[in-house]
Amino acid sequence: MKKNNIILIGFMGTGKSSVGTCLANTLSMKFMDTDNEIEKRSQMTISEMFKSKGEEVFRLMETNLLREYQETLNQTVLSTGGGMPLRAENVSLLREIGFVIFLKTSKEVTYQRLKNDTTRPLLQCEDPLGAIEQMLKIRVPIYEACADMVLETKDRSIDRIVQEII
Ligand code: S3P
Repeated sequence: MKKNNIILIGFMGTGKSSVGTCLANTLSMKFMDTDNEIEKRSQMTISEMFKSKGEEVFRLMETNLLREYQETLNQTVLSTGGGMPLRAENVSLLREIGFVIFLKTSKEVTYQRLKNDTTRPLLQCEDPLGAIEQMLKIRVPIYEACADMVLETKDRSIDRIVQEII
């Protein structure tokens, strides 16, 4: 498969789906989102899946999707769940499938965006800010190592971010 796809990685709430949708429209490419695809195929929300099947089953579905996309994905902007690059196999697959862009956002901005969110099971805890901080510490180096390009989203609009990527 030719590497003609663009993949967005990064922490929850960085705008991967919004940026991805706008980027795909601007470049006349298709748009896909791994979380949406998993929800569609399993007929349940990510929260329900974490609760009834456990995180490991979700992670396995993520890897299986990438194995499939390695064969099939074409001219597509792919937005991925924030934990996608945590498995080493996924990192290799992502890099084979497309040009990988890490959308990077600060802990504070992430917290402001997600503090009232109820759809992210990993943040349904006593101390979401602490959880974000802990996860970012572990994940940012992984995102950076996986990416072909790192883009600080700062307080830029979706359109500005898309223009920068292009
Ligand atoms: C996760 C991020 C979520 C979703 C799941 C786990 C993570 O996706 O895949 O809740 O481990 O960071 P978003 O990054 O789209 O919120």
